[in-house]
Amino acid sequence: MEDPIVAVDVGTTKVCTLVGELNEESELRIVGIGISPSRGLRKGIVLDIEEATEAIALSVNKAEQISGYEIDSAYVGIAGAHISAVNSRGVAAISRGDRSIVRDDIDRAMQAASAIAIPHNRELLHVIPRGYIVDGQDGVRNPLDLQGIRLEVEAHIVTGASTCIQNLVRCVKGAGVDVVDLIVQPIAAGEAVLTKAEKELGVAVVDIGGGTTDIAVFIDGSVWYTVVLPVGGDHLTHDLAVGLQTPFTAAEMLKVRYGHTMPDTVEPDETIDANSFGDNSHRSVSRRRLTEIIRVRSEEILELILREIKRSGYDGLLPGGVVLCGGTAELAGIKELSREVLGLPVRVGTPRDVQGLLESVKDPAHACGVGLLLWGLRNTRDGSREGSHPGQGVLGHLRHWLSVFSPG
Ligand SMILES: Nc1ncnc2c1ncn2[C@@H]1O[C@H](COP(=O)(O)OP(=O)(O)OP(=O)(O)O)[C@@H](O)[C@H]1O
Ligand SMILES: [Mg+2]
Repeated sequence: MEDPIVAVDVGTTKVCTLVGELNEESELRIVGIGISPSRGLRKGIVLDIEEATEAIALSVNKAEQISGYEIDSAYVGIAGAHISAVNSRGVAAISRGDRSIVRDDIDRAMQAASAIAIPHNRELLHVIPRGYIVDGQDGVRNPLDLQGIRLEVEAHIVTGASTCIQNLVRCVKGAGVDVVDLIVQPIAAGEAVLTKAEKELGVAVVDIGGGTTDIAVFIDGSVWYTVVLPVGGDHLTHDLAVGLQTPFTAAEMLKVRYGHTMPDTVEPDETIDANSFGDNSHRSVSRRRLTEIIRVRSEEILELILREIKRSGYDGLLPGGVVLCGGTAELAGIKELSREVLGLPVRVGTPRDVQGLLESVKDPAHACGVGLLLWGLRNTRDGSREGSHPGQGVLGHLRHWLSVFSPG
């Protein structure tokens, strides 16, 4: 039997391991899932190696039990505010007699684009072609076999802090799993929830998790902007815990069960019995008050998202609007409030293009995990595993994205 494809999404709230198999039609079937509560992470960054390793190991073990596979390597998602991205241009001269562009020319142009000054404490995570220019003619999607003397590539380059990357890799390895490739979480999420048409048209995927909000802008079928903000659903819970003077776990339950972004939709005198959500103080909580607290903070998070979308400079290029995912995309009324604040069309995205244990991964919270599997699937099909170790995996990514560009 073929090796399975495995994804490990190390989130701030949960660690989720997914095991995928290819069926006869080369479709991805999820045959194993293991979820464990996340520990040792804050805002997407590992702060306690031992705790995070244990949480990852628990999730991997569960997925092994369900799938019957032994997991020895996986595609792993990375987030945290240390992630940063720039767009850069690389040039390669085509000097051979026939002037026909070959893969090596494309690789040279991509290498030139990635030869930007990367500080010694940062590592390259992705170099993604946004488009090519051949002899001054832009808008080229796939330059292979075209005639030309000068090939330019516009590339999107994503880097991360070496220490954060190495700490994450150490935890995954400590759990007995080799990292095949590290993929930035919003790019993975985009793979799972966006349609091809949306990516062509211009769309932003916004994954609002527990500790981070991950944004990637897709235009013309490629990634043009990536950012990770250190805010998420945990802030809502924290505000409720403080505002309603209740433990964090009770506030979390309150948020999920009774939360809403629109206080006006709640009767002013509706109350919730504190005992019902794990607070044994024998009092009751006003639901209107609860939703008011949620409203203020979710509006603030959405304003930060709007600011980032504007900062990208691509805010006018998003007819596909915003696709929300991550656990916080399940907050009641978040879609409506997002439309109001962002002034763009908004939908909630759930993972697509997978078979098998669909029921367990159909939530928006699994966008990143499923996207990692789909990334792995593409990588496997391309046979481009070579060189794809964290920090050295750029060529693997190049090949992957080249195949995305190539028609058919
Ligand atoms: N129905 C719901 N209503 C409101 N919030 C919800 C709901 N379901 C989940 N959440 C919130 O979603 C968050 C977890 O989302 P998710 O599982 O995507 O996070 P994560 O991937 O572990 O974290 P991150 O990606 O930020 O590191 C938590 O804050 C949780 O309270
Ligand atoms: Mg997440």
